[in-house]
Amino acid sequence: MDLTPKTPAELGIDADLLDEASDILQPFEKLVPVKVLDEIKYLPENNSLWRGLQFCGLIDRSVTIDFGRFCLAGTCTHCKGLVQEADMDRRDAMLLCQTIAKAGTHIKKLPDGFRLKKSYA
Ligand code: FES
Repeated sequence: MDLTPKTPAELGIDADLLDEASDILQPFEKLVPVKVLDEIKYLPENNSLWRGLQFCGLIDRSVTIDFGRFCLAGTCTHCKGLVQEADMDRRDAMLLCQTIAKAGTHIKKLPDGFRLKKSYA
């Protein structure tokens, strides 16, 4: 996987959609490549994997989330997924709302309440 972060412009993300998404995100300049199941997604740096997946849902509708299941505060534990960061040699159960998106992270199993639509681009 190419771990080079990209700017929203390099990824062709619509400025209006980006503006809309900024309401839910910490400030960022680049997006980092994260493998979600078997697809590469670009998620905003400085933001959690949870918010990054929400971002994907806003930008291209490729992720849907059952929002009512999640607290986003690190307490409900419903967002636990199987994650392997680039510098780890094994996957681990991690809370997506408490784990910052880093280049090369692989989400190997999404928690219930997340659905990834296949992209055919
Ligand atoms: S959403 Fe509740 S712990 Fe992550």
